[in-house]
Amino acid sequence: MKTNTALAVLAALGGAHAFWRMECHGQVGLARIDPLVNPDEVGQHVHAIHGSSGFSMKATYDDLINADCTSCAVRQDKSVYWAPALYFQHANGTFQYVEQAGGMLAYYFLNPDRNDPNGKITAFPRDFRMIAGDSLRRNYSVGDPKAVDPEKSLWASLGQTSQLDLEQRALGFNCLNYKKDPEGSLFRHYLPDKEYLDANCHDGIRIEIMFPSCWNGKDVDSPDHKSHVAYPDLTMDGFCPKGFETRLPGLFYETIWQTNAFAGTPGRFVLSNGDVHGFGYHADFMMGWDVDFLQQAVNTCTNSSGRISDCPIFDIQSPDEERSCQMQQPRVLANELVAGLVGDTLPGGVPIQDGPGPATMKNPGPATSSVEVPTVTYAPGVKPTDTAYLPGQVLHEPSSSTSTPTSTSSAEAEMNALAQPATTPAPTSLPVDDGKYSVVRTEYITDGNVVNMIVVKEAVEYVTVTTTTVMAPKARRHLHRHGRRHHH
Ligand SMILES: *[C@@H]1O[C@H](CO)[C@@H](O)[C@H](O)[C@H]1NC(C)=O
Ligand SMILES: *[C@@H]1O[C@H](CO)[C@@H](O)[C@H](O)[C@H]1NC(C)=O
Ligand SMILES: *[C@@H]1O[C@H](CO)[C@@H](O)[C@H](O)[C@H]1NC(C)=O
Repeated sequence: MKTNTALAVLAALGGAHAFWRMECHGQVGLARIDPLVNPDEVGQHVHAIHGSSGFSMKATYDDLINADCTSCAVRQDKSVYWAPALYFQHANGTFQYVEQAGGMLAYYFLNPDRNDPNGKITAFPRDFRMIAGDSLRRNYSVGDPKAVDPEKSLWASLGQTSQLDLEQRALGFNCLNYKKDPEGSLFRHYLPDKEYLDANCHDGIRIEIMFPSCWNGKDVDSPDHKSHVAYPDLTMDGFCPKGFETRLPGLFYETIWQTNAFAGTPGRFVLSNGDVHGFGYHADFMMGWDVDFLQQAVNTCTNSSGRISDCPIFDIQSPDEERSCQMQQPRVLANELVAGLVGDTLPGGVPIQDGPGPATMKNPGPATSSVEVPTVTYAPGVKPTDTAYLPGQVLHEPSSSTSTPTSTSSAEAEMNALAQPATTPAPTSLPVDDGKYSVVRTEYITDGNVVNMIVVKEAVEYVTVTTTTVMAPKARRHLHRHGRRHHH
């Protein structure tokens, strides 16, 4: 297969697509708590929890909103944002918590529906909650995980816009190396293996997840905590499916994990839910804003900088105040080791389950890795202009920095960098079309009041492809091991 294409395209899609970026410098808790999946009981796996101190195993909207603090920057935001923690399993079997760098960023994208460019974004209603991702998933079924995504405009024609497809594309594992141009967000949909991380991701890994932003307009929750909402057909924007026309703020979480602290140490990384490949990464959200206030913020916090400080109605606290906010640890979990060296199982005895079949909650699977780990090679995101506040770039250190961050100080530097946007280099012009370049993906980057669509091209690769719909990773593995790639 050979693809020839024209030169890069930078097209303004138009529309005032605003957003803000909620900074949550502190974890309000690190514990096996999940009031959505395991209400009023101990949760299955450890979550890194950010937001209201009113969180608990049976937290309600009122608990969140009445709590006295939040570990996020805006005092009026008593929402809770949580996602699995990351662990490292040493060669001797012992698990160790991987430190999180800089807390969490929760973006609120205010993208209207493609059908209704001036349409309203509706604030999350009271009691609203939802889950993105599938903790039990252990495979990637939207084509080849080793390949970069097809251009977004092709997803529909390729039949890749089912909710299950979009959910898998809504995960990103961004290899951080501040000496290189950053990768685009949601570029790689699995956690690279240790060897790859050691060789390439010298500043750790940033895990990203996009939530559905189309709502059925009536249910604040659903039995699976998902079916009341849906993704628009391009994950982050596009068209909302029928029945889900109410457009919510598009939530997008980013957390950075200091995998680089384990460079050279034998072992492997695993999410707290026993997933070594990241396909089962997921995240939860519980709404904790006053609804009218949130609607006001959605309507008025439209400065394209994305900075919460550019929204006059937000009452912003200091990072130290954020970090000092802690939830009350339930007594039953008081002695559970979740940080540092935690023993020879993941907290809660969660087994490592490799897939490709779905993980089970009760029956432990084999403890050794048998699934071949894909390798999507590093490719920088395109930066047409100052994108210091956007996913993929937002935690990038100022380019003047020459430090090699190895500790939490890098997180601080990243967060501090938010206050002083680094000057981003002008786009390096992409190679002229001479038949050697092909479109590899499309990215959307907000620039002022417009969303730019950037078509990214790379050298044409000749790839032997014998089939396109192989689902079983075994077969796929075989297929690609014998695929031949020539770079011209
Ligand atoms: C396993 O190895 C780690 C790293 O060397 C060490 O800190 C830990 O104590 C070891 N655990 C056991 C049970 O020996
Ligand atoms: C956006 O915020 C910047 C400060 O970061 C300010 O200078 C500018 O006037 C604001 N724009 C609008 C439209 O409020
Ligand atoms: C891939 O994961 C999905 C969701 O867990 C599951 O339904 C499917 O059976 C898995 N595929 C294989 C080949 O195991």
